[in-house]
Formats: sequence, structure tokens, C-alpha cells
Amino acid sequence: MDLLIRASLLFNSLYKNVNGCKISVSARKKLSNTSDFLYGEINLLSWKKIVERANPKKDGVFFDLGSGTGKSVIASHLLFNFRKSIGIELITELHEQALKIKENLKKIIDPKTQTHVSNRELEFIQGDIFEIDLREADFIFLNYHIRKSKKFLDFEQQLLEQLKPRSKIVTTLKPLQNSAFRQCDHQNYKFSWGSAPVYFYEV
Ligand SMILES: C[S@@+](CC[C@H](N)C(=O)[O-])C[C@H]1O[C@@H](n2cnc3c(N)ncnc32)[C@H](O)[C@@H]1O
Repeated sequence: MDLLIRASLLFNSLYKNVNGCKISVSARKKLSNTSDFLYGEINLLSWKKIVERANPKKDGVFFDLGSGTGKSVIASHLLFNFRKSIGIELITELHEQALKIKENLKKIIDPKTQTHVSNRELEFIQGDIFEIDLREADFIFLNYHIRKSKKFLDFEQQLLEQLKPRSKIVTTLKPLQNSAFRQCDHQNYKFSWGSAPVYFYEV
């Protein structure tokens, strides 16, 4: 069985009874400003195609900023050669779900996939993407829907100051605004809510 088939079987089994959208909607009832936390997910096959197109550094560090239940992080860990795959999520219930998935993965992983991931780290951090230190990142995924202008422009500036030259960024729905990011491509991919544009950048 090849890597993709084994990864798909594991991934589907891990997420079989997990409804990230439902978890997010229920958790957001307790929050005052909910529009920043709109939910939607990537799937394993779209993520595989996106990473192949982005072509990030081998053995690099991957961050999903706003990682939800951790789908891109788990898929990256299973399918690619990242030294570290890290998900940052602010909503407690989504973060805790991602931690459960990580625990369950340890229980059901098959020996061949275990060999593939044995020297690779998988981490979920509960935190705010606007406050996280991204200096070790080589590849960033930003599937974040609401981009309030000033806050987001400041964040783009922070990315430019922190990220290493040649780091890659993939963002959905809207392009980055700062022209210092070099846009390499944009294409549509399938997400949980339908087809959406994905923008590819290099720092
Ligand atoms: C559209 S979902 C994407 C989930 C995941 N990246 C995926 O593609 O499958 C965006 C996520 O970002 C999270 N989020 C929004 N603002 C955040 C912030 N300031 N810090 C951390 N996470 C945030 C939301 O709670 C939500 O889970």
C-alpha cells in the first residue's frame, strides 16, 4: 500500500465522527466577536495538491494559523517530510479536538506510517495567531476568512519581519495585500464549503 492510501485510511478513520463546523458553531455561542472565527476545512486530497504546488523546503517547519480540528497539520505530518507540523488555534474546543486526534493517531497508526513519521514532530498549540512567534516557520497555511484591514496589514508586516527569506505562504479566499510578498500562483481547490481560490507566495 502506498503512502497516500495509508494516510487516507488513517485520516478518514481519525475524522470519521468529527464535525469541526458543529464544534466551532457551538463554541462561538460563548464568544462576543464571532465573525473572526468563521469555520471551514481543507480536505486531505486538496491539501496534498496544495503542498505539492507550493513545494516547501524539505525537513522544514509548517504552521497552520487557525488550525481548527487540525486537518492540514495531521495530513502534512502523514504525507510530507516536515520536521515539525504545528497547528495554532484559539478556540478551546477545537484545540482540544485536535489534541484528541493526535492521541488517537498514536493508537491506530500502522508500522509503515510510524516509520515515516518517527523523527517528525506534531504539535497543537492553543494561541492567537496574531501573537505567535513565526521565526522558525518555513511554510504557512492561512485559511482565515476575515481580514480586517488594519489588523491584517499589521500582521502581514509582522510576517515579513519574522519569516526567513524563501519561506512559503499559502492563503485562501483573498490575496495578501503587501506587495513585498511574491505571488507565485493562484488556483481553485475544494474545501468543505466548496471551491475557493488559493494564493501561493514566497517571502
Ligand atoms: C476557516 S477555519 C480553518 C481551519 C483549518 N485551518 C483548515 O483549513 O481545515 C479558521 C480557523 O481559524 C481560527 N481562528 C480565527 N482567529 C484566530 C486567531 N486569532 N488565533 C487562532 N485561531 C484563530 C478559527 O477558530 C478557525 O478554527
